[in-house]
Amino acid sequence: MQAFGIDIGGSGIKGAPVDVATGKMLADRNKILTPRPSTPEAVADVVREVARSFGWKGLTGITFPGVVTGGTIRTAANVDKSWIGTDAARLFSKAVGGDVAVLNDADAAGIAEMMFGAGKGERGTVLMLTFGTGIGSALFTGGLLVPNTEFGHLEIRGKDAESRASERGKTEHGWGWKEWAQRVDEYLQRVEALVSPDLIIAGGGISKESEKWVPLLTGVRARIVPATLQNDAGIVGAAMAATGMGTTRTTDAGTEASVTAAVAAASAAATAK
Ligand code: BGC
Repeated sequence: MQAFGIDIGGSGIKGAPVDVATGKMLADRNKILTPRPSTPEAVADVVREVARSFGWKGLTGITFPGVVTGGTIRTAANVDKSWIGTDAARLFSKAVGGDVAVLNDADAAGIAEMMFGAGKGERGTVLMLTFGTGIGSALFTGGLLVPNTEFGHLEIRGKDAESRASERGKTEHGWGWKEWAQRVDEYLQRVEALVSPDLIIAGGGISKESEKWVPLLTGVRARIVPATLQNDAGIVGAAMAATGMGTTRTTDAGTEASVTAAVAAASAAATAK
């Protein structure tokens, strides 16, 4: 089965058709810079353009870098604030001309990693973190997602954690790997104290260079592994959500019985339109 996945980020909007049974993209992704200001209308125009560039008409899943409940955007840390309260499922469905599922970007990336990547077969508590413009989080237990966890906004030393430990923080402050990894380590210790994960999956674009920083993260008990789908995880997870695949137990393809609240709500919003 095929679906289209679109990943909306603070810097780029990228999409590709995906074979959701294998998690493989069926074509090179198309990436267009996120418009500035990143208002709902401007972003919806780019979403339309990305889908149209593949001639896509059909099931589409779309990620958003903020809290999404029932297809509606609730927070917008790194995009235009006018998103808050926007019915994104409706807006995007008009843009692409079909049903859409909308979900948090890190939740989408986590779903993909749990099904096809570094979290495959893991049944304990798994925390996927994406280090990029912000820090995204996706928490799983027994293969089920707890949506919209937003652990990037924990307060550390009086600051939003993502301003200290995101990839953007590293670039903006000019920190070297060691300096940045110390901040990430302190952040992971804080998260570990709250949810005691068995496994932490380190994702986001910077996971391409995981060998430079993941080995420096020595302050937590949890196993830490780099994401394997890296930058494609959001696209793949979005496409899975569009078909309802992300709504099932992500580590157990055989007994897909349980439903995760967020993605189910997103799919419901898509069909309710
Ligand atoms: C947002 C999250 C998002 C993360 C990564 C944070 O600022 O609040 O919803 O998952 O950035 O994009």
